[in-house]
Amino acid sequence: MLQNKKKIKLAKPEREAMRHACQFNASLLDYLRDFIKPGITTGEIDELVDYYTTKHGHVPAPLGYPGEHSPFPKSCCTSINEVICHGIPDSYALQSGDIVNVDVTSVVDGWHGDSSETFLIGEVSEEARAVTQCSFDCLWLAIDAVTPGCTVSAIGDAIKAEAESRGFSVVREFVGHGVGRNFHQEPTIPHYPNRQSRKDRLEPGMCFTIEPMINGGKRHGVTNKRDGWTVRTRDRSLSAQFEHTVLMTEDGPEPLTVSKRGPQKGHSF
Ligand code: MF3
Ligand code: CO
Ligand code: CO
Repeated sequence: MLQNKKKIKLAKPEREAMRHACQFNASLLDYLRDFIKPGITTGEIDELVDYYTTKHGHVPAPLGYPGEHSPFPKSCCTSINEVICHGIPDSYALQSGDIVNVDVTSVVDGWHGDSSETFLIGEVSEEARAVTQCSFDCLWLAIDAVTPGCTVSAIGDAIKAEAESRGFSVVREFVGHGVGRNFHQEPTIPHYPNRQSRKDRLEPGMCFTIEPMINGGKRHGVTNKRDGWTVRTRDRSLSAQFEHTVLMTEDGPEPLTVSKRGPQKGHSF
């Protein structure tokens, strides 16, 4: 549930605090990337997230995050192949051919930085590479589509057009979100246009995520009944996702979670 109903616009010192939290979260992904190779288990990735975060005196936001079924049991989400999002780290060892999204969120001095990447493990299929590339390109097209005071639907319009032109689908059940002192807050950021997003505006000082989940097949997801979290594509097609936290400034969008060693805008997988 979104925790704050009113529009939150950050002043200068608060924007600095968000930059700091988001850059820490980016450094966490940079720390992880050398380990994300065939043979590592998702549980080991989770231990690395917990180690790096707590060593720096920060808090992993996913651990204990409330859900309808049960609190989230780990410090990050690891979503493999047909898993759309909210995969729970466990004893599964990554294999060549897998794609895995690692989604991390850090609480730094009370502020949240939220970002994720999909990693290609070893040699992957052309379909896996294409879905991953599409999600990455959609994220950056959406960042480039927003301007001060634009409607939230600028994001969904850009993503829907690109994904559908490549023959892929956009997940609707999970969305981006405002982020700041709360992990999830207003506004809701759907990755497709709808009635609400055509009304909501992105004004200077607002901070939010863009995190398109793109499926190789149909858009629908199904949540695992036993764990209450893992969401798979209904048709078991592949799904990929990238996420950045973005600050809207008076001059345009400022992506806050870009890492030094991660894929930069324009990257080809
Ligand atoms: N990090 C996810 C997001 O981008 C949310 C994960 S919720 C959790 O919004 F409980 F699974 F951590
Ligand atoms: Co998010
Ligand atoms: Co996230």
